[in-house]
Amino acid sequence: MARAFDVVVIGAGPAGYIAAIRSAQLGLSTACIEKWRTPDGQYALGGTCLNVGCIPSKALLESSENYERARHKLQAHGVTLSGVSFDLQVMLARKNQIVRKMASGIAGLFKKNKVTWLQGHGQFVSGGTTWKLEVEGEHGSEAIEASHVVVATGSRARHLPDVPVDNKIICDNEGALEFDSVPERLGIIGAGVIGLELGSVWRRLGSKVHILEALPDFLGAADEAIAQEAWKIFTREGELAIELGVNVASIAKGKAGVSVAYKCADGKAATLACDRLIVSIGRVPNTEGLGADKIGLKIDAKGFIEVDKNCRAGLPRVYAIGDVVRGPMLAHKGEDEGVMVAEIIAGQHGHVNYDAIPWVMYTMPEIAWVGKTEQQLKSEGIAYRSGRFPFAYNGRALGRDESEGFIKILADAATDRILGVHAIGSLASELIAEAVVAIEFGASSEDIARICHAHPSLSEVMREAALAVDQRSLNG
Ligand code: FAD
Ligand code: NAI
Repeated sequence: MARAFDVVVIGAGPAGYIAAIRSAQLGLSTACIEKWRTPDGQYALGGTCLNVGCIPSKALLESSENYERARHKLQAHGVTLSGVSFDLQVMLARKNQIVRKMASGIAGLFKKNKVTWLQGHGQFVSGGTTWKLEVEGEHGSEAIEASHVVVATGSRARHLPDVPVDNKIICDNEGALEFDSVPERLGIIGAGVIGLELGSVWRRLGSKVHILEALPDFLGAADEAIAQEAWKIFTREGELAIELGVNVASIAKGKAGVSVAYKCADGKAATLACDRLIVSIGRVPNTEGLGADKIGLKIDAKGFIEVDKNCRAGLPRVYAIGDVVRGPMLAHKGEDEGVMVAEIIAGQHGHVNYDAIPWVMYTMPEIAWVGKTEQQLKSEGIAYRSGRFPFAYNGRALGRDESEGFIKILADAATDRILGVHAIGSLASELIAEAVVAIEFGASSEDIARICHAHPSLSEVMREAALAVDQRSLNG
């Protein structure tokens, strides 16, 4: 007889494994199907985020930044080092060890919470009073039944048509986290988050990085002032060369590397010759082989599973969460949807506040924001006041020798409620948490201005930006 569960989650990335753990915490018998295999053939939990995304990229960002500090930034502190070098194999091994440690951590959490991990590819077979699924694993297939199904199959890198990715010379995120040597000339297609983060890693380690971006504007999703500041910093002499408004015509791989023929923004033809190429032009949802057609699961024109605001997928007791549905492709967005659907399945009132999801780019300096950008407020005709404060006036930032950038707070002109907070600067990824709490609790800029912030700390920049909304910054 088929094993039956209250909840079956397909996919154990951050959306799926959190949905499974929360379901089990709420007393539901839960299984999670995951097919991911490591290069040595072991089944692994954690999805894109843990295996080839958030975690390994941040490990390499940290290692490469340490090298950059040792080479260029410690002298200002009076620390002189000579003969600074790095061992790429050690960096990669450290990254892989963090990934392994966290993957076994999730396996431990599954055990602790009594989530059954079904190893293999999962798909719908048919519907009825319960959903019938099949798991195709190493040792054959198993039929299972579920009262509720949560689809959390995630996404994969979008590739250019007719440009095969071998993940050695032409790479997506997977190969770009595994280069066995530092390419002298690194080409990147797409100046989005991956292009900037992984471009920074390899630039710090010695690559000459050239990024080709199709859009005429840099970082179109970010607040314009932040994007302008980022452009100024990232494109300095010796940093990233970024060309906007290009049209890639063809890509050819030869013995000497890769040649990218493209049209510049002014219409002139150009060629980029590089040793390796990263294609980072966004991601596409995973719905192939899911059996969606067998049960009538609706998929939209862009390949996302159609869901309502509570991630219900239009069929009884079927939900979809994370990268496979609309919204930002961010791990924490998927995690929050995982908690929401588990709580709804258990009869509670789970919800996600999509207006309070932070964005972070782990560049140097970091970029982080939550809420609306200034251009969004303008286009929506919302009257607002804006306050901005630079890190350059902050003692902690100066002490850290990381005083570039600013925080900007946008507040409703009539009510002073905070509508958006935008930061570029040291540890913006951590500072943004205060703004997320403020937006979640409907705080005003005056609330932040009246809260005591530790001195000296970077968080004082947040308070000063809040004071600046009312044109009464105290330190600038
Ligand atoms: P995924 O993590 O993609 O997991 C889906 C899982 O489902 C996979 O393990 C897959 O094997 C499995 N699966 C698919 N189909 C089936 C099936 N039929 N049967 C069984 N299993 C199946 N986000 C951030 O918030 N912060 C970051 O710093 C960040 N950095 C990133 C860096 C890189 C290089 C990349 C590529 C992404 C990054 N992201 C980051 C995005 C983040 O990784 C994704 O938003 C997140 O992984 C989505 O989670 P998910 O659970 O929806 O899907
Ligand atoms: P992205 O959407 O961030 O950027 C892709 C860029 O490629 C865009 O600027 C787009 O205009 C450009 N582009 C598209 N087609 C092109 C073409 N043919 N030629 C030239 N440029 C082209 O996608 P990216 O960087 O691949 O990352 C995928 C997703 O992963 C992100 O959207 C994000 O959700 C997630 N991610 C999040 C991170 C974080 O939170 N720190 C880090 C890395 C990835």
